[in-house]
Amino acid sequence: MGHRVAIVVVAAGSGSRLGHSEPKAFVELRGVTILERALRGVFESSEPAQVIVVAPSARMAAARRIVEIAGGVASGDAIVVEGGVTRQASVAAGLAVLDPSIEVVLVHDAARALTSAALIDRVVRAVSPGTGVIPALPVTDTVKRIDAHERVAETIDRSDLVHVQTPQGFPRAELVAAYAAADREYTDDAALFSAAGHQIAVVEGEPRGFKITTPWDLHRAENLLGHSSGFRTGIGLDVHAYDDGSPLWLGGLYWPDEPGLAGHSDGDAVIHAICDALLSAAGLGDLGARFGTDDDRFVDAASEVFLYETLSLVVGAGFAVVNVAVQVVANHPKLSVRRDEIEARLGELIGAPVSVSATTTDGLGFTGRGEGVSALATALLSRDA
Ligand code: CTP
Ligand code: MG
Repeated sequence: MGHRVAIVVVAAGSGSRLGHSEPKAFVELRGVTILERALRGVFESSEPAQVIVVAPSARMAAARRIVEIAGGVASGDAIVVEGGVTRQASVAAGLAVLDPSIEVVLVHDAARALTSAALIDRVVRAVSPGTGVIPALPVTDTVKRIDAHERVAETIDRSDLVHVQTPQGFPRAELVAAYAAADREYTDDAALFSAAGHQIAVVEGEPRGFKITTPWDLHRAENLLGHSSGFRTGIGLDVHAYDDGSPLWLGGLYWPDEPGLAGHSDGDAVIHAICDALLSAAGLGDLGARFGTDDDRFVDAASEVFLYETLSLVVGAGFAVVNVAVQVVANHPKLSVRRDEIEARLGELIGAPVSVSATTTDGLGFTGRGEGVSALATALLSRDA
């Protein structure tokens, strides 16, 4: 309690255009309700906030359960209140239970299930005394006005037109006063707020913040979330030249009496290939892009440091590692003698099974000529539902 920011999530609509028997916020999107998906973004936003969910009267218990699962009740900062007949009445019901400490209020549609925490943060940061904030995106299609006979009356200059999204953010006192004074229905909270004489600033919206309104929108959201298996694979390759002057670290193990590998950090090609495979599976780019060679933290670093940093990025993006496989292509060291040891060590570091195999290239290429080591890894990740 004692938060400065409140987020009112309106979820009390019936979703008539979606056409399900369930109210829209309780329809599942790849196994997770629209409301829970919207709340994930809300609870992941940076500023600790009072979260107020406005639900249909017939779904109060279900809404409380969803808030609990999404993580709100544990923090003690979320409440569920009953909505009204119109969206505006539902927002008003949420505003009625703001904590005394609240200075900034965000109003957000549960139907924008995929809105990111980053957009919520952007709106919170932009609210200033007396000024509200809306996220918006440029209109890309040509816009025309048509007449009563379905004929084109004019083409409208779209250069200064935008699509408006939620969350919309406002200073609390002015928003509550504007709601109290509103004597008609407005199309959004910002219109109601500016009718009371206040300014509205614009921040950049995001394509994934679209409102799920029709079955087509639900389908689009499902596609954006990826396919139902929830699995993703990735691939990574790393190559290092032998360097007689360095100790050999490979597969997280020290190899006495073997020539080492040249390169950034300790040159552990096996761990580097695994990191690239993990980042690739999570869609997070690659080792070079994530941990630049000019970053002092990683000069001569043990490769395990990269692995820990990589795993924290992958887990942070909502993935768990299912397994990793790596094949080493080299004349030496002879991996077979320590294969169990490498698999155990890497399995312990990664927290998932790791299989290691090795081959030579029949005397061909740089590995065949004994110039260096190549490692190729694949990783399988599963996404939390
Ligand atoms: N909303 C609400 N209370 C209402 C009407 C709408 O809390 N009386 C919420 C919806 O749950 C939704 C958001 O306002 O999260 C945006 O409204 P909209 O997309 O129009 O949802 P519905 O009104 O449920 O859908 P429809 O208009 O198709 O019936
Ligand atoms: Mg509606």
